[in-house]
Amino acid sequence: MRYDPLRELPATPGWKAGDVLVVFGELFGRGYANGIVDEARRAGMTLVGATVGRRDGSDGPLRPLNAEELAAAEANLGGRIVNVPLEAGFDLEAVDGGPSPAEQLKRLKGENWRELSFDQAALSASRAAGAARFERNAAAFAAQLATLVPAGANLLFVHTMAGGVPRVRSLLPLMTRLFRGTGEKHLASGPVWETELGRLWAASFEEVTARTFERLVAATAPLRTAGRKVRYVAYGYHGCEVLIGGRLTWQSYTPYLQGWAKKRLEQHAEEAWRDGVRATVFNSPEIWTNSSSLFSGVELSLYPLLTSISDAGRAKGGAAQAVADELRGRCAALLAPGTTLEAMLERADRFLSDPVMAPFRGLEAWPQHSTREEMELMLPASEEVLAFSADAKNTVAAELSRLVFGAVGRLMLAEAWEPVSPIRWLNHDVVAKRVVTA
Ligand SMILES: NC(=O)c1ccc[n+]([C@@H]2O[C@H](COP(=O)([O-])OP(=O)(O)OC[C@H]3O[C@@H](n4cnc5c(N)ncnc54)[C@H](O)[C@@H]3O)[C@@H](O)[C@H]2O)c1
Repeated sequence: MRYDPLRELPATPGWKAGDVLVVFGELFGRGYANGIVDEARRAGMTLVGATVGRRDGSDGPLRPLNAEELAAAEANLGGRIVNVPLEAGFDLEAVDGGPSPAEQLKRLKGENWRELSFDQAALSASRAAGAARFERNAAAFAAQLATLVPAGANLLFVHTMAGGVPRVRSLLPLMTRLFRGTGEKHLASGPVWETELGRLWAASFEEVTARTFERLVAATAPLRTAGRKVRYVAYGYHGCEVLIGGRLTWQSYTPYLQGWAKKRLEQHAEEAWRDGVRATVFNSPEIWTNSSSLFSGVELSLYPLLTSISDAGRAKGGAAQAVADELRGRCAALLAPGTTLEAMLERADRFLSDPVMAPFRGLEAWPQHSTREEMELMLPASEEVLAFSADAKNTVAAELSRLVFGAVGRLMLAEAWEPVSPIRWLNHDVVAKRVVTA
């Protein structure tokens, strides 16, 4: 892994009407993929989407979308959805009458996470069955996609899949303690990750977050024909440089338990690249989405983007300055009476620059496990900074998140035209430049 941030805005790409952007994953209202989809639409590209499928009840069999669900998904995307269920993972996979991982996890109670052991043969069989199902469905997806892509059209695959928390209620109390616990309720992530439970959880993350990218590249090999550009991009996370005490500094949200799977995702891009496939993971900033809003505190590093944007506006002047000023005004209008953006930014910076956080700023040591001291600093800081916004449903963090996914989408679409390496970081400096530049 080479630390390789994108520092300058990429040249205008050559994507044109008739070229096809494929979203590999579902599109939710406030997720990262919306940015690149909007940008592709502006370029006149044809949009094709995917679905993870649905299960009736909590663990019914995986099925494609019904007519009503399909129509809603296609309206949301503004394009065709290839209706093959692409749910990844193996938590609900039962093989030959053996228990599924979710079934085995029902024995999780109270403190028994330390010694809980699993039928490893059943786990291996489930994992293999989940992988085989996904590969089968990815091949069917690719075959249907081939009929939708005109000869000579360029193709951009956008991998958005991430997840894999085993879907079982018994895990919820543990998750609350891991991600929100302070005092006696705090649970450090390290000891959990060292158990059989932790290993199962990590394997589940790997299947959904990383292996799906490898399998997408493999399944779509028949589409990589001469005479067209075929590119693959994926959203990674591997920390992000933000302004701390006025200096652009690499930092990361902790505990980011998908971190090992995200490193594996990077490896898949490197391997594809070595095989001559232009696949790039774009490590992107922390924002609020359906998937991340569970993780209180993940948004704390988003606030200094406002300062980066003001700085970028000032550096360019003219219209760029006006964009930055307008955004500041929009954010100020979201604040509770009697508060200021300056005070809000000062509170976020006090957390980010706290000496307790210094050991977490090592790129080489990433991903790191949480400590009680860190969580007890982060969780109250998150609440205090959120309280600066007048309406919990319309916050500065949500406004900045929209801005980031838009800017990241523009950067990715442009850079994917002639990518130079398999792993890039999109930090606050280049996001800010993108935001203020027309
Ligand atoms: N939110 C952040 O702070 C952040 C930061 C950096 C990178 N990312 C990455 O951006 C990408 C999009 O995430 P997002 O935060 O926009 O949230 P999101 O909830 O909009 O997207 C999550 C995606 O994962 C897919 N998915 C979930 N479970 C799946 C499963 N079992 N099988 C197949 N697909 C599954 C969903 O269909 C959806 O497309 C992810 O790779 C995420 O890790 C997010």
